[in-house]
Amino acid sequence: MALINENYLKLQAGYLFPEIGRRVNDFIAANPDKKVIKMGIGDVTQPLVPSVVKAFHEGVEEMAKGETFKGYGPEQGYAFLREAIAKHSYQDKGVDISAGEIFISDGSKCDTGNIQEIFGNDNKIAICDPVYPVYADTTVMSGKTGICQANGYYEGIVYMPCTKENGFIPELPTETPDLIFLCYPNNPTGTVASKEELKKWVDYAIEKNAIILYDAAYEAFIQDDSIPRSIYEIEGAKKVAIEFRSFSKTAGFTGTRCAFTVVPDDLVAYDKAGKAHPVKPLWNRRHSTKFNGVSYPVQKAAAAIYTEEGKKEVSEVIAYYMENASIMKESLANAGYEVFGGENAPYIWVKTKNGMKSWEFFDKVLTEANVVGTPGSGFGPSGEGYFRFSAFADRENVLEAMDRIKNMN
Ligand code: MLT
Repeated sequence: MALINENYLKLQAGYLFPEIGRRVNDFIAANPDKKVIKMGIGDVTQPLVPSVVKAFHEGVEEMAKGETFKGYGPEQGYAFLREAIAKHSYQDKGVDISAGEIFISDGSKCDTGNIQEIFGNDNKIAICDPVYPVYADTTVMSGKTGICQANGYYEGIVYMPCTKENGFIPELPTETPDLIFLCYPNNPTGTVASKEELKKWVDYAIEKNAIILYDAAYEAFIQDDSIPRSIYEIEGAKKVAIEFRSFSKTAGFTGTRCAFTVVPDDLVAYDKAGKAHPVKPLWNRRHSTKFNGVSYPVQKAAAAIYTEEGKKEVSEVIAYYMENASIMKESLANAGYEVFGGENAPYIWVKTKNGMKSWEFFDKVLTEANVVGTPGSGFGPSGEGYFRFSAFADRENVLEAMDRIKNMN
């Protein structure tokens, strides 16, 4: 008799974004004449920049000729890309990360989920509430939790509420976790953590022998230079943190797929007898057993964002999305909403009016303004009464969507 992984039966509803997609498709089917503007899932709309496209083409051409054709590449990624990342994303910014600590993958969603596999199921996981749903769902799938309780919290997870009152930055938990998911710039609230705030977490992880799983997928959107782009800017972090980064939002790779994870040589976790083991060889083992690398043309395309031309082109696209964010922030505030985020992140976190529930607001915005956003409660119970708008959209759609929302009842 085939037995299923019963942890999957504990999962609540479907994954958030397909659920939104289903509701939107139903609305479009019933209202084919309406022009629906999507600002729900954070998916880029601008095309790949010219340097990336050129390198991508060159990579394909190389694959088309016997002399330059490539079969399997290194599972960890080609040296040219790992070295470019180490230099431009870290070393040039004064952060000591080497190419050997970087693992190329096809996405941070996969990496933040898969990383759980190398850590035992007795670990206590701490996550923010609200949070990118992948951290909670993959914690459940991996068997580290009990059932979902009436309050929306899974048994066994340490939840850290992020509310307006604490500026959407979690307080240190009272129950000690072993693995701590942090994401800054934050998805969904669009807020950022200062150096002092991150230092508090690094010191805490050092004191508790815990590991921080730091999702920095949105670091490229930071406008304020005093805000850390990497957790490794904090002293001691290489001993206690894994960092996830992605080309998806930074360079429009959501459909092209390329990301990377940094597992420092100094990072250790413990066996039950208390003996320390380096984590990097375990991730390397997992990666090389279950993954055959990102395709050569894609890695070549990704490396192009580190050329002078590539850097300039990518920063122009980011500036475009951040201009969207500032237009949205201002329009929503003028329409009487309390708004957060959007200054160093491509997400605007909006408080609904008169205590309206998040899904009710979703229906209202969809039916009255024909605009799609993401209900805050979909990211966790503390997101109830909030709504997320993504700044990844075409300018004319942003302007039209804001105009329609302003005119809602
Ligand atoms: C989001 O909208 O939160 C993101 O696009 C989801 C993701 O990056 O997987």
